[in-house]
Amino acid sequence: SIDISSLTRQTGLTTLDYGFVNTASTASAITYIDGDEGILRYRGYPIEQLAAGSSFLEVAWLLVYGELPTVDELADFTERIRRHTLVHEDLKQLFGALPYHAHPMSMLSSAVGALGTYYEADVDDPEAVDLATIRLLAKMPTIASYAHKKSLGQAFLYPDNSLSYVENFLRLNFGTMAEPYEVNPVVARALDRLLILHADHEQNASTSTVRLVGSTKANIFSSISAGISALYGPLHGGANEAVLEMLAGIQESGEGVKKFVERVKNKEDGVKLMGFGHRVYKNYDPRAKLVKESADAVLTELGVHDPLLDIAKELEQTALEDDYFVSRKLYPNVDFYTGVIYKAMGFPPRMFTVLFAIGRLPGWIAQWREVNTDPASKIGRPQQLYVGAAKRDLPAR
Ligand code: ACO
Repeated sequence: SIDISSLTRQTGLTTLDYGFVNTASTASAITYIDGDEGILRYRGYPIEQLAAGSSFLEVAWLLVYGELPTVDELADFTERIRRHTLVHEDLKQLFGALPYHAHPMSMLSSAVGALGTYYEADVDDPEAVDLATIRLLAKMPTIASYAHKKSLGQAFLYPDNSLSYVENFLRLNFGTMAEPYEVNPVVARALDRLLILHADHEQNASTSTVRLVGSTKANIFSSISAGISALYGPLHGGANEAVLEMLAGIQESGEGVKKFVERVKNKEDGVKLMGFGHRVYKNYDPRAKLVKESADAVLTELGVHDPLLDIAKELEQTALEDDYFVSRKLYPNVDFYTGVIYKAMGFPPRMFTVLFAIGRLPGWIAQWREVNTDPASKIGRPQQLYVGAAKRDLPAR
């Protein structure tokens, strides 16, 4: 076998690769993607099978521990997560210091970073890392609901641990102190499925961020908080919010899909077809297919007819028939249809990326753990090509 690191040292080669288009930063055993064929597998299991027959917490275990859990392991994992959903009362005061109009992603990254002030999580202690894993999976939905409630000016609810993971999250968001909240099982199943679809996606921007921060041996809470910040951007997780804004903009302006697409093709004001295109998929994103099915199912179940879904479908059809998009291999990505579903469920657009973050959490945790257990891993430290001024002297003073 070849020792790649010594080879690199010996040859002294440096490649300049903006955006890491061709450079692998790590070996990984977690997620497999074939972007040309539209294949996505977690730990070898096809995403289609997991979406059809698994649950989010089972997938979380699979990503973190590498194998499917036994019935007892899943029951124990679920129970431990259930027992850790409460957030320390003092941590709630953090939200009091934040303006109500703060973006929920900023609130989420702040509060998840703040979890690290409450819990010791020695990177090299496997039991401490397991406990931090449970705490993150349990508390992030609670924290996310506080971000939502804060923006509404409503009281925070305590978790109801008689409910499932997703049911509890829905109640924390849509329940009130005054009235009982009844969970729609179709909505709960659809949300669970969406979380599965987002659970990992190998070395995307936020995951690479988590791994880079983790490679410094920073604690897992700080690393995940950094990942949330990376996900916030509209070219990454923030695209789901941007898609809905785009669809609403097309509806409100009345300009019509064809005209909007012409503006995209002419690159007018840098306008893009949000929710389209992907660095890795040069074919239909397999997750987008599954999300599209969910969009129809959820809106039918809720009896919602949203003209934005019609606009989205027309946009997709127009793009699929247009050489601009076909020649650039631009297809809908996972974010194209999620916003329409989240909106029908009652979430405001600013919460969409928070839902993505809850879904991506097990992947971030699994990747952070891999960085910290792989003997080959080392602190991430990219090279640069210096293009600044040559040596010059300060003028005499
Ligand atoms: N709409 C219109 N044109 C596009 C789009 C788009 N959404 N995406 C790419 N293009 C065009 C580019 O303008 C470029 O055209 P050119 O060759 O004439 O200059 C060509 O397609 C290649 O695009 P790149 O920007 O080089 O592709 P890259 O791999 O760097 O970017 C990205 C991928 C960021 C996802 C891009 O497609 C994009 O901005 N999409 C919209 C935002 C979005 O949906 N992001 C979510 C990604 S999935 C996720 O994070 C979960």
